[in-house]
Amino acid sequence: MVDFDVQTFIVFLVFMLSLGICHADRNLYSGLQCSQADNSSESSFGVNLDNLLDLLTQKGPLSKGFLKTTVGRSSGKIYGLMQCRGDVSAENCANCTRESVAVALHDCSKSKKVQVWFTWCFLRYSNEHFFGVWDQSSAAIVNETDFDDASVVSKALTFMSEVAITAPKQPLMFHAALLDAGQFGKRYGMAQCTRDISTTDCSHCLDTQLMTFRTTIGNKRGWEVYGSSCSMWYHDYQFYSNFSITANDGARRLSLQGVATGIIMAVLVFIFVP
Ligand SMILES: *[C@@H]1O[C@H](CO)[C@@H](O)[C@H](O)[C@H]1NC(C)=O
Ligand SMILES: *[C@@H]1O[C@H](CO)[C@@H](O)[C@H](O)[C@H]1NC(C)=O
Ligand SMILES: *[C@@H]1O[C@H](CO)[C@@H](O)[C@H](O)[C@H]1NC(C)=O
Ligand SMILES: *[C@@H]1O[C@H](CO)[C@@H](O)[C@H](O)[C@H]1NC(C)=O
Repeated sequence: MVDFDVQTFIVFLVFMLSLGICHADRNLYSGLQCSQADNSSESSFGVNLDNLLDLLTQKGPLSKGFLKTTVGRSSGKIYGLMQCRGDVSAENCANCTRESVAVALHDCSKSKKVQVWFTWCFLRYSNEHFFGVWDQSSAAIVNETDFDDASVVSKALTFMSEVAITAPKQPLMFHAALLDAGQFGKRYGMAQCTRDISTTDCSHCLDTQLMTFRTTIGNKRGWEVYGSSCSMWYHDYQFYSNFSITANDGARRLSLQGVATGIIMAVLVFIFVP
């Protein structure tokens, strides 16, 4: 666990260091950020929080994997948001949201500002209004010794810039694409914004992540940047469900099962940018 000082409160940003083999069809815990424990909470906060988390868990997965809502009034008011990755099925989205809620309540039970990242979903709540506000916080997970070939690296940055340009224009502000790197195989990219922010802020958010991290992650075979308002991933395996393959079935509720196997997600370094 690593402690960061961000803004006025202590933030814990925890990235699981469980290295080794992970599978793309599994929902993995990626990180957590919560404000300092506040023991002075009025009891209404806890009641409101329970109601909020119920709402997010039950309605979010059924509303295209995104919901922002508030519960309570005046000082007891809580703002909550959940969003699943754009390709994740409603069922997996629901599971992921439940898991995020469990983590939040277990690890940050006395915090008023909480963010939880899983591979399939993101949960955030706060006693302060944050809807529609681009938050520049983000963290990168990368195996810092897993360098890619130089010829792929130059293509990769252009490729990810294109992914970043395309994502804001999509209905879910989610875009996945693949890069054919010839003899070096394929690379896969994804960009997504939380759907409370504007498309303009989505573009800025993704651009900023690329600019911020390009020198540290750009020459690696894989990385994941998780932010409060947007996220970008890049890997040498397909980690998302391909909509167009199954579009003929008329089904967008995809399960990630069978997408990719044998993934080594090396979590060695994370870089935090307030
Ligand atoms: C709040 O309570 C917890 C134990 O419940 C304690 O560890 C923590 O130090 C307290 N925080 C403050 C700011 O008093
Ligand atoms: C959701 O979680 C339950 C148990 O927590 C599990 O039995 C079920 O298979 C999960 N569903 C999916 C789609 O992963
Ligand atoms: C990081 O990448 C290097 C080079 O590919 C690899 O040998 C190492 O096993 C990776 N680390 C982890 C923890 O997977
Ligand atoms: C999805 O699959 C189709 C058909 O195999 C392929 O042409 C397309 O590039 C894939 N898209 C992504 C984002 O992987």
